[in-house]
Amino acid sequence: MSLHERMFGLAGHAGAYQWLVRPFFGKLHGRVAADVAAAGLADGARVLDAGTGPGLVPLAIARAAPGLRVDGVDLSAAMVERARRGAAAAGLAGRVTFTVADVAALPFADATFDLVVSTMSLHHWADPAAGVHELRRVLRPGGRMWIYDARVALRRGEVPGVPSRREAVRTGRLPVRLVGRLIY
Ligand SMILES: C[S@@+](CC[C@H](N)C(=O)[O-])C[C@H]1O[C@@H](n2cnc3c(N)ncnc32)[C@H](O)[C@@H]1O
Repeated sequence: MSLHERMFGLAGHAGAYQWLVRPFFGKLHGRVAADVAAAGLADGARVLDAGTGPGLVPLAIARAAPGLRVDGVDLSAAMVERARRGAAAAGLAGRVTFTVADVAALPFADATFDLVVSTMSLHHWADPAAGVHELRRVLRPGGRMWIYDARVALRRGEVPGVPSRREAVRTGRLPVRLVGRLIY
Protein backbone atom coordinates (compact mmCIF):
# COMPACT_ATOMS: atom_id res chain seq x y z
CA MET A 1 0.00 0.00 0.00
CA SER A 2 1.49 3.35 -1.04
CA LEU A 3 2.04 6.30 1.28
CA HIS A 4 -0.58 8.21 -0.70
CA GLU A 5 -3.14 5.42 -0.35
CA ARG A 6 -2.48 5.44 3.40
CA MET A 7 -3.06 9.21 3.39
CA PHE A 8 0.47 9.68 4.73
CA GLY A 9 -0.44 7.75 7.90
CA LEU A 10 -3.85 9.30 8.59
CA ALA A 11 -5.75 6.26 7.21
CA GLY A 12 -4.64 4.36 10.31
CA HIS A 13 -6.16 6.96 12.62
CA ALA A 14 -9.81 6.77 11.71
CA GLY A 15 -11.08 8.61 14.78
CA ALA A 16 -8.79 11.58 14.18
CA TYR A 17 -9.65 11.58 10.47
CA GLN A 18 -13.39 11.65 11.22
CA TRP A 19 -12.94 14.54 13.64
CA LEU A 20 -10.80 16.50 11.18
CA VAL A 21 -12.92 16.12 8.05
CA ARG A 22 -16.43 16.69 9.33
CA PRO A 23 -16.20 20.50 8.98
CA PHE A 24 -14.76 20.17 5.45
CA PHE A 25 -16.68 17.24 3.97
CA GLY A 26 -19.93 17.34 5.97
CA LYS A 27 -21.81 19.34 3.33
CA LEU A 28 -20.43 17.19 0.52
CA HIS A 29 -21.53 14.01 2.30
CA GLY A 30 -25.02 15.48 2.67
CA ARG A 31 -25.06 16.36 -1.02
CA VAL A 32 -24.02 12.81 -2.00
CA ALA A 33 -26.74 11.29 0.19
CA ALA A 34 -29.33 13.67 -1.31
CA ASP A 35 -28.22 12.77 -4.86
CA VAL A 36 -28.58 9.05 -4.07
CA ALA A 37 -31.98 9.54 -2.42
CA ALA A 38 -33.15 11.43 -5.53
CA ALA A 39 -31.89 8.74 -7.94
CA GLY A 40 -35.20 6.87 -7.90
CA LEU A 41 -33.76 3.49 -6.92
CA ALA A 42 -36.24 0.77 -5.91
CA ASP A 43 -36.38 -0.55 -2.37
CA GLY A 44 -33.74 -3.23 -1.91
CA ALA A 45 -31.39 -1.65 -4.47
CA ARG A 46 -27.70 -1.84 -3.59
CA VAL A 47 -25.27 1.08 -3.40
CA LEU A 48 -21.48 0.84 -3.01
CA ASP A 49 -19.30 3.59 -1.53
CA ALA A 50 -15.68 3.15 -2.69
CA GLY A 51 -12.95 4.42 -0.34
CA THR A 52 -15.52 4.93 2.40
CA GLY A 53 -13.09 5.94 5.19
CA PRO A 54 -15.00 5.94 8.51
CA GLY A 55 -18.25 5.26 6.68
CA LEU A 56 -19.95 8.64 7.00
CA VAL A 57 -21.37 8.57 3.45
CA PRO A 58 -23.03 5.13 3.73
CA LEU A 59 -24.63 6.16 7.03
CA ALA A 60 -25.90 9.40 5.48
CA ILE A 61 -27.30 7.44 2.49
CA ALA A 62 -28.97 4.87 4.74
CA ARG A 63 -30.68 7.67 6.68
CA ALA A 64 -31.73 9.59 3.56
CA ALA A 65 -32.96 6.52 1.65
CA PRO A 66 -34.22 3.88 4.11
CA GLY A 67 -35.08 1.32 1.39
CA LEU A 68 -31.51 0.93 0.12
CA ARG A 69 -28.76 -1.52 1.13
CA VAL A 70 -25.37 0.16 1.30
CA ASP A 71 -21.86 -1.30 1.22
CA GLY A 72 -18.66 0.58 1.93
CA VAL A 73 -15.14 -0.60 1.11
CA ASP A 74 -11.80 0.82 2.18
CA LEU A 75 -8.16 -0.26 2.07
CA SER A 76 -7.67 0.69 5.70
CA ALA A 77 -8.73 -1.85 8.35
CA ALA A 78 -8.78 0.95 10.95
CA MET A 79 -11.26 2.94 8.84
CA VAL A 80 -13.49 -0.10 8.30
CA GLU A 81 -13.43 -0.93 12.01
CA ARG A 82 -14.47 2.64 12.81
CA ALA A 83 -17.21 2.52 10.13
CA ARG A 84 -18.64 -0.72 11.57
CA ARG A 85 -18.76 0.79 15.05
CA GLY A 86 -20.50 3.88 13.66
CA ALA A 87 -23.12 1.75 11.89
CA ALA A 88 -23.79 -0.27 15.05
CA ALA A 89 -24.07 2.88 17.17
CA ALA A 90 -26.52 4.37 14.66
CA GLY A 91 -28.63 1.19 14.61
CA LEU A 92 -27.93 0.78 10.88
CA ALA A 93 -25.72 -2.33 10.91
CA GLY A 94 -28.52 -4.38 9.30
CA ARG A 95 -28.55 -2.25 6.14
CA VAL A 96 -24.96 -1.03 5.94
CA THR A 97 -21.97 -3.37 5.52
CA PHE A 98 -18.28 -2.48 5.52
CA THR A 99 -15.45 -4.53 4.02
CA VAL A 100 -11.69 -4.07 3.78
CA ALA A 101 -10.88 -4.06 0.05
CA ASP A 102 -8.97 -2.27 -2.68
CA VAL A 103 -11.16 -0.55 -5.28
CA ALA A 104 -9.03 -2.30 -7.89
CA ALA A 105 -9.81 -5.81 -6.51
CA LEU A 106 -13.32 -5.99 -5.08
CA PRO A 107 -14.79 -9.09 -3.38
CA PHE A 108 -18.15 -8.77 -5.18
CA ALA A 109 -19.68 -10.61 -8.13
CA ASP A 110 -20.19 -8.87 -11.46
CA ALA A 111 -23.24 -6.57 -11.61
CA THR A 112 -23.88 -6.59 -7.84
CA PHE A 113 -24.66 -2.88 -7.44
CA ASP A 114 -27.24 -0.48 -8.86
CA LEU A 115 -25.21 2.63 -8.04
CA VAL A 116 -21.57 3.27 -7.10
CA VAL A 117 -20.42 6.43 -5.36
CA SER A 118 -17.04 7.56 -4.11
CA THR A 119 -16.15 10.71 -2.18
CA MET A 120 -12.70 12.30 -1.88
CA SER A 121 -10.94 8.97 -2.35
CA LEU A 122 -10.00 8.81 -6.06
CA HIS A 123 -7.04 11.16 -5.62
CA HIS A 124 -5.46 8.54 -3.31
CA TRP A 125 -5.91 5.51 -5.61
CA ALA A 126 -2.64 4.02 -6.88
CA ASP A 127 -4.23 3.10 -10.22
CA PRO A 128 -7.42 5.11 -10.84
CA ALA A 129 -8.12 3.42 -14.20
CA ALA A 130 -7.95 -0.03 -12.59
CA GLY A 131 -10.32 1.22 -9.87
CA VAL A 132 -12.80 2.57 -12.41
CA HIS A 133 -12.74 -0.66 -14.44
CA GLU A 134 -13.29 -2.76 -11.30
CA LEU A 135 -16.12 -0.52 -10.08
CA ARG A 136 -17.76 -0.81 -13.49
CA ARG A 137 -17.48 -4.61 -13.26
CA VAL A 138 -19.52 -4.73 -10.03
CA LEU A 139 -22.08 -2.23 -11.41
CA ARG A 140 -25.13 -3.71 -13.14
CA PRO A 141 -25.63 -2.84 -16.82
CA GLY A 142 -27.28 0.57 -16.92
CA GLY A 143 -26.20 1.34 -13.35
CA ARG A 144 -24.65 4.70 -12.54
CA MET A 145 -21.31 5.66 -11.02
CA TRP A 146 -20.63 9.04 -9.44
CA ILE A 147 -17.11 9.92 -8.27
CA TYR A 148 -16.89 13.11 -6.21
CA ASP A 149 -13.47 14.63 -5.66
CA ALA A 150 -11.50 17.84 -6.00
CA ARG A 151 -12.06 19.07 -9.55
CA VAL A 152 -8.32 19.13 -10.22
CA ALA A 153 -8.14 15.40 -9.39
CA LEU A 154 -11.13 14.13 -11.36
CA ARG A 155 -9.30 13.90 -14.68
CA ARG A 156 -7.29 11.00 -13.20
CA GLY A 157 -10.51 8.99 -13.13
CA GLU A 158 -11.24 9.34 -16.83
CA VAL A 159 -10.65 6.15 -18.78
CA PRO A 160 -9.95 6.21 -22.53
CA GLY A 161 -12.77 4.64 -24.47
CA VAL A 162 -15.29 4.74 -21.61
CA PRO A 163 -17.73 7.65 -21.89
CA SER A 164 -17.91 9.93 -18.86
CA ARG A 165 -18.52 13.57 -18.07
CA ARG A 166 -17.44 15.94 -15.32
CA GLU A 167 -19.55 18.59 -13.61
CA ALA A 168 -18.95 21.10 -10.82
CA VAL A 169 -20.71 20.50 -7.51
CA ARG A 170 -21.82 23.22 -5.11
CA THR A 171 -21.27 22.09 -1.53
CA GLY A 172 -21.26 25.28 0.54
CA ARG A 173 -21.14 29.04 0.55
CA LEU A 174 -17.84 29.33 -1.30
CA PRO A 175 -18.18 31.12 -4.64
CA VAL A 176 -15.55 28.80 -6.10
CA ARG A 177 -16.65 25.27 -6.87
CA LEU A 178 -13.72 23.18 -5.70
CA VAL A 179 -15.45 19.84 -5.88
CA GLY A 180 -16.73 18.04 -8.93
CA ARG A 181 -18.50 14.86 -9.91
CA LEU A 182 -17.25 12.44 -12.54
CA ILE A 183 -20.24 10.61 -13.97
CA TYR A 184 -20.08 7.19 -15.64
C1 LIG B 1 -9.77 11.29 2.18
S1 LIG B 1 -10.40 9.72 2.65
C2 LIG B 1 -12.13 9.89 2.19
C3 LIG B 1 -13.00 9.00 3.04
C4 LIG B 1 -14.51 9.18 2.80
N1 LIG B 1 -14.90 8.80 1.45
C5 LIG B 1 -14.96 10.59 3.11
O1 LIG B 1 -15.45 11.28 2.21
O2 LIG B 1 -14.86 10.97 4.29
C6 LIG B 1 -9.78 8.62 1.42
C7 LIG B 1 -10.02 7.13 1.75
O3 LIG B 1 -9.69 6.38 0.58
C8 LIG B 1 -9.11 5.15 1.04
N2 LIG B 1 -8.37 4.56 -0.08
C9 LIG B 1 -7.23 5.02 -0.67
N3 LIG B 1 -6.89 4.20 -1.67
C10 LIG B 1 -7.83 3.22 -1.74
C11 LIG B 1 -8.00 2.06 -2.57
N4 LIG B 1 -7.14 1.78 -3.56
N5 LIG B 1 -9.07 1.27 -2.34
C12 LIG B 1 -9.94 1.54 -1.32
N6 LIG B 1 -9.82 2.62 -0.51
C13 LIG B 1 -8.78 3.44 -0.72
C14 LIG B 1 -8.25 5.57 2.22
O4 LIG B 1 -7.96 4.48 3.06
C15 LIG B 1 -9.16 6.61 2.89
O5 LIG B 1 -9.97 6.04 3.89
